[in-house]
Amino acid sequence: MKKILVINGPNLNRLGSREPSVYGLQTLADLEHRLQEIGGQQGVTINCFQSNHEGAIIDRIHEADNSYDGIILNPGAFTHYSYAIRDAIASISVPVIEVHISNVHAREAFRHQSVTAPVTKGQIVGLGLYGYEMALLALLNEGKGEK
Ligand code: DQA
Repeated sequence: MKKILVINGPNLNRLGSREPSVYGLQTLADLEHRLQEIGGQQGVTINCFQSNHEGAIIDRIHEADNSYDGIILNPGAFTHYSYAIRDAIASISVPVIEVHISNVHAREAFRHQSVTAPVTKGQIVGLGLYGYEMALLALLNEGKGEK
């Protein structure tokens, strides 16, 4: 059975109450429940992790190597400056899809750059929590020989 790890970075534990006009009203628990539901339908194991700490995220990325089939990662603000998370992603062979709930390109200039995206398989931005579902389906499609 395939195993997918979902990692949410800093402040994403505040979903539902954090800037609802940007991030919506659904909570992290709602998101994780929805992904578990899809995982159940697709016959895939989904494990979810959230941390506000850079090192904890890096440790989780390292641990995922050779034990997961894919990672869905929203690094939060670390996206824009964490070379350490970028290097952690580059150090593993598991495909990572980067997700952003908001359209970072339509926001402040500092959000326009992702230092992590170049070492990921791809990036999904601005589609709300649905972006995580898309990432999950893309990872499940991995290895089927389709581009
Ligand atoms: C975010 C975008 C980041 O710029 C921000 O710091 C976040 C959330 C998003 O999902 O839209 O914490 O990653």
